[in-house]
Amino acid sequence: MDYLLKTGDITKQRTACLVVGVYNKKKMSAAAEAIDKNSRGALSKILKKGDFQGKAGEIQMLYNIPGSACDRVLLVGLGSEKEYGIKTVRSTAAAVAKALENSYVIEAISALPEVSADESLSKILRETIIASENALYQFDQCKSEPEKNGRPLKKLGLFIGKQRKSQQIEQAITQGKAIAHGVTLAKTLGNLPGNICTPSYLADQARALGRKSKKLNIQVLEEKRMKALGMGSLLSVSRGSTEPAKLIIIEYKGGPAKSKPVVLVGKGLTFDAGGISLKPAAAMDEMKYDMCGGASVLGTLAACAEAELPINVVGLVPASENLPDGSANKPGDIVTSMSGQTIEILNTDAEGRLILCDALTYAKRFNPDVVIDIATLTGACIVALGDKASGLMSNNDTLANDLLAAGERSGDRAWRLPLWDEYQSQLDSNFADMANIGGKGAGTITAACFLARYTKAYKWAHLDIAGTAWLSGANKGSTGKPVPLLTQYLIKRCKLDK
Ligand code: BES
Ligand code: MN
Ligand code: ZN
Repeated sequence: MDYLLKTGDITKQRTACLVVGVYNKKKMSAAAEAIDKNSRGALSKILKKGDFQGKAGEIQMLYNIPGSACDRVLLVGLGSEKEYGIKTVRSTAAAVAKALENSYVIEAISALPEVSADESLSKILRETIIASENALYQFDQCKSEPEKNGRPLKKLGLFIGKQRKSQQIEQAITQGKAIAHGVTLAKTLGNLPGNICTPSYLADQARALGRKSKKLNIQVLEEKRMKALGMGSLLSVSRGSTEPAKLIIIEYKGGPAKSKPVVLVGKGLTFDAGGISLKPAAAMDEMKYDMCGGASVLGTLAACAEAELPINVVGLVPASENLPDGSANKPGDIVTSMSGQTIEILNTDAEGRLILCDALTYAKRFNPDVVIDIATLTGACIVALGDKASGLMSNNDTLANDLLAAGERSGDRAWRLPLWDEYQSQLDSNFADMANIGGKGAGTITAACFLARYTKAYKWAHLDIAGTAWLSGANKGSTGKPVPLLTQYLIKRCKLDK
């Protein structure tokens, strides 16, 4: 969808639908009041009838409002005026987008961004765009006859009153669109089934992304090359599958040549059956989402390129399937990682760390400022945090705090868990340098402890997105997380968070 800024007099906005807000207890926003005045109290009259209270998310379409240049007025409840803030901006933007889509208007103007909150207009505009796109997202690529809306919403004007358009505001729009598109890409890659979204498919999608921007450079390492590099751990996982593993490298050069990059490493397990340590059948389909870390890396790099952020970022996506067959990893097998450290595979279902460790070793060659890995790594993380926050573990407090702050600010939150040395002994092995599982307790932390043995050379953080990357049940589908968190972190690093 297209978003554009609208300024001037609200009563003169020529549009199929003008969206105005009303707070709790029928208290009109400035925009609603202006329309009310201009229509000689048409809105007050309707509100008096009591059908519309102004509760958060409440929606009412009105026709034939006299005096204004619009065909319809959509009232949106904003809830408590005191509590109005960025959270309400997000939820009302989503409610509005859905209502407009269902009302078959193809163009509308929303006066919600004008409403004052304890936030900059830039931030409100950015979040409005992200939340609207999120709400309008549909995945119907695999339906033979997708339900078509003959009159889909194509244009949303964002009315900002008498304010002048500034570079800062234009930038917010650009960023909002870029982040929204990055989230959409991550969602779609996640929702695609494992028989379509294979490691080769992910590699092709990265190449397609590369064709969109001169600042993106794509390279795909094949198994032969990985073997020569000594990536015995990564390759051991793909051995049980007929789909060849890929190591996807996406370089975005938006900053000065000498500035050290942020390296993002995303788990790209396109289907995780568990291998010989086979998973139970229930909900196993959801293991197509085991590449959501990788998808978030593609989405974040797409956003960087679209917003032309002045920063260098490298995306690494080790991509593989984890399936059982005659050549698959067996419990007890010992493999040698690229770092030289040996690993006793006590559970073939703990495969994420096996592909990540070699990618994390490979990350060193980019001379990174920081490395952040993103992975649907442990079921234990869902037990600990549910779907409300990603698990965060780090060997650097500044990096951890920056990521926590980016999570708060983007509404895509993370929560830190400890990475104390005391947990390391859970990975002791009688036969190799380490085991790939850490026993009963603290599964999310011991998984991170495993990765920590490969990330000593740089500042590193690990995001466990097992609980946040997708929703189960009736709303089953990818969330696109943590693209908002990651892009927010990068935007802040560029000092462009206005
Ligand atoms: N991809 C899974 C983690 C996962 C499971 C994410 C369910 C979301 C929902 C990962 O590869 C895995 O299987 N982890 C094991 C580790 C265990 C064997 C130590 C797990 O969490 O059970
Ligand atoms: Mn697994
Ligand atoms: Zn997995």
